[in-house]
Amino acid sequence: GAPVEVDISSLAPGEMRTVEWRGKPVWILKRTPEMVDSLKKTDGEVADPNSKRTDFSETPDYALNEWRSIRKDILVVVGICPHLGCSPSSRFQTGAQPSLPDNWQGGFLCPCHGSTFDLAGRVYKNKPAPDNLQVPRYMFEGDNKLVIG
Ligand code: FES
Repeated sequence: GAPVEVDISSLAPGEMRTVEWRGKPVWILKRTPEMVDSLKKTDGEVADPNSKRTDFSETPDYALNEWRSIRKDILVVVGICPHLGCSPSSRFQTGAQPSLPDNWQGGFLCPCHGSTFDLAGRVYKNKPAPDNLQVPRYMFEGDNKLVIG
């Protein structure tokens, strides 16, 4: 398929947009500094903090870092649960909420079997999803143009 170009100039901090790439939903989340900081807090709670697993997808070199992304503020992941392919929903509100950990830092929740993911798409420990959310191939052209694929 052809690469998908996305203008992210109007994306506000804390806002997420979904685009379609090869028939799959790709999430583009502009993380706030607080959201980026929350990744340190979830490091110890996720199953594969450094994205070494390859059960579902291999994390590209440019996302093998603390943020799982090229730019610290922009998360780009495929919005499909690595367990059985359901669509997780975003839960950016922090704190106690039904079916989420007490110290929830924001992230994604799969409605099918309860897998939870942090704001870098890293799956929490002891959840059915065998891997983190997939990071697709992408690059930036300038500050505001994201090219996926
Ligand atoms: Fe997401 Fe099973 S499909 S937890």
